[in-house]
Amino acid sequence: MSELESRLRELPAFPAELPVLLESDLPDSPHELFLDWLEAAIAGGARQPHAMTMLTTRADGTPVGRTLIVKDIDADGYHFSTHRSSRKGQEIAANPRISFVFFWRETGRQVRITGNAVALSEEISQADWAGRPSYAGVPNEDWQRYALVPDEFEFMQAREDRQHTRIDYLLGEDGWSHSPVETPAG
Ligand SMILES: Cc1cc2nc3c(=O)[nH]c(=O)nc-3n(C[C@H](O)[C@H](O)[C@H](O)COP(=O)(O)O)c2cc1C
Repeated sequence: MSELESRLRELPAFPAELPVLLESDLPDSPHELFLDWLEAAIAGGARQPHAMTMLTTRADGTPVGRTLIVKDIDADGYHFSTHRSSRKGQEIAANPRISFVFFWRETGRQVRITGNAVALSEEISQADWAGRPSYAGVPNEDWQRYALVPDEFEFMQAREDRQHTRIDYLLGEDGWSHSPVETPAG
């Protein structure tokens, strides 16, 4: 084993005290569970609990991720904003299928949300631009607020024994349904 590998193995992993995710406690709506976990991350003092990795896909199928901030969650979906001409903006224009991955270290929780990105109105986008700390009074026509409209969630709650609990929520014709993920969790 290399010296780096042994040092990496020694690093602390999940906290000793972890919340428990029980199937019997699951809400029908994944939004409810997501908001519950987000609120817990905020209340726990996590730094940038609203930051996540957003995955897009290049034309050749290569997945690309980068960190973004979730701006709001409402009936439109999970809001984020960026420049339309950015690489991710161009990738979304070509393929709106995207994922978000949140990781809250303090509670050993990960959530992946997958769906389609839709562009929100110019009015919403410019209000978002004007609310940025660096705003200098000039609108930015390249700025775009989007909403991820989810059709799939995976919630993972880490467990000390590494048999992490994972739950998929899928949107079907009758609404959301959930089931445990049976493939290996790590
Ligand atoms: C904590 C954090 C939050 C960020 N939030 C945003 C964001 O909300 N919107 C954005 O366009 N870029 C944000 N960035 C920068 C992106 O990660 C990325 O570097 C940039 O948008 C260019 O990405 P692209 O070349 O894939 O388009 C953030 C970076 C970090 C580290």
